[in-house]
Amino acid sequence: MSKKIKEFAGNFYPDQYKKDSKLDINHNYLLEQFADHDEILNKIKQVVIRGDFTLGSIVDEVEEEYAKLCGTKHAIGVGSGTDALFLSLKSIGVDRGDEVITTPFTFFATVGAIATAGATPVFVDCGDDLNINADLIESAITPRTKAIMPVHWSGRPCEMDSINAIAEKHGIYVIEDACHAIQATYKNRPAGSLGDFGCFSFHPLKNLNVWGDGGIITTDSDEHAKRLKLIRNHGLIGRNECVEFAYNSRLDSVQAVVVKHMLGKIDNITKSRISNAMYLDDKLNGISEIDIPKRDNDLKEVFHLYMFRANKRDELQQYLISKKIDAKVHYPIPMHLQEAAKKYGYTEGNFPVCEMAGKSVISFPVHEFVTKNDLDKIVDHVKSFYGV
Ligand SMILES: Cc1ncc(COP(=O)(O)O)c(C=O)c1O
Repeated sequence: MSKKIKEFAGNFYPDQYKKDSKLDINHNYLLEQFADHDEILNKIKQVVIRGDFTLGSIVDEVEEEYAKLCGTKHAIGVGSGTDALFLSLKSIGVDRGDEVITTPFTFFATVGAIATAGATPVFVDCGDDLNINADLIESAITPRTKAIMPVHWSGRPCEMDSINAIAEKHGIYVIEDACHAIQATYKNRPAGSLGDFGCFSFHPLKNLNVWGDGGIITTDSDEHAKRLKLIRNHGLIGRNECVEFAYNSRLDSVQAVVVKHMLGKIDNITKSRISNAMYLDDKLNGISEIDIPKRDNDLKEVFHLYMFRANKRDELQQYLISKKIDAKVHYPIPMHLQEAAKKYGYTEGNFPVCEMAGKSVISFPVHEFVTKNDLDKIVDHVKSFYGV
C-alpha cells in the first residue's frame, strides 16, 4: 500500500463543503440553484406514487428531449458522466490491450474510464486553447488504438474537423467527453453530435445539474444506442433473459425528474454563463500578467469554468481566497503525473503545454448566480493584486 493510500482519511467532501461555505463568490451555487426545490419535490412525488424508480417513463422523456437538444438520433441515460465514457468504450468493444488517445489536461474520470475499461490511456499534449492538440494526435496512433477521446475542456469545443478526419482515416472511433459542454457548438453543430458518441455529466456542479449523479450518452448510431441500452442494464432484453453479462448504470428516475426540470432552464443558464464570461473577458483583457484563451468565432463556448493562465498563480489564488473569492485550480497535477498513471511510464517534460497549464491556470465561477457586482469584485481584486 502506498504512503498516500495509507494516509487517505476517507470521505473528504463534508470538510470541503464547510470550507466553500465561508466564501462569498463561490463555485458551489446549489442552494440558489435549487431554491425551487418544492416544485422538483412535487414532481418526484409522482415517481414515488408510480413506483417506477428504475428506468421509469421519465427517463424515456429525458432521453428524447436530450437527443433533440444535441441534434442526435439517440440519447441514453446512464449513472454518471464517468459511466457515459466507460459504457461508450465498452460499446465499441474496448478491452485489455487496446489504446485510447486523450489529453492529460482533464478531470480524472476521462482517464479513469479508459483505464477501467481495460485499455491504456495514450496522452497527447494540449494546445494554447487548453484542449487536445489535434496536430499531435496522428503520431500517437498505433495498431492498438481504438478511439480518440477529446475533452471539450471548460465548455470549449475541440478542433473536431481535424480529429474526425484522423479518426476516419484510421478507422477508429471518436468519443467526445462533453461533460463540460452542454449547448456548446462547433461550427454551429452541438457538442455531443460531433463524434460517434457524446458523453455528458449531470454532476451537481455541472452546467446542468442533478441531486447526485447522472449522465447521458448521445449518438446517431442505431446499433450503438441499442447496445448501450443493453449494457447499462445487465444485458437484459426482458425480465428473464440476458444476452450479455454487463453493467448496472442507469439514469435514476428520481434524477431524471431533476434533469427534466433543469432542461427547462438550460437556455438561460448557458446565456448567463456566456454573458458573465464575456464581461470578464472585456474587463480583464489587457492585463499583461494574465493570458486569456483567444475566443474563436467558430465556437460557442459555454464556460463551465472561466479559466486563464496567470503569472504568480498560487499567490493570486491565495490573495483572492483571502478576499472570499473561490478561485480554484482545475487541476494542478496533470493526469500523466498522477500516482495512478505511474505504470504508463510518463515523466515530467512529456507534455510541456499541459504541464505549464497545471502551473498557471486559475478558474473563477461564472454561473448564473454570479452577479455583475461579484464580477466587478473579481476584476478589482485581480487588478489590485497585479497593481494595475
Ligand atoms: C471532463 C470531465 N469528464 C468526466 C467527468 C465525470 O462526470 P461524473 O462526475 O458525472 O462521473 C467530469 C466531472 O465530473 C469531468 O469534468
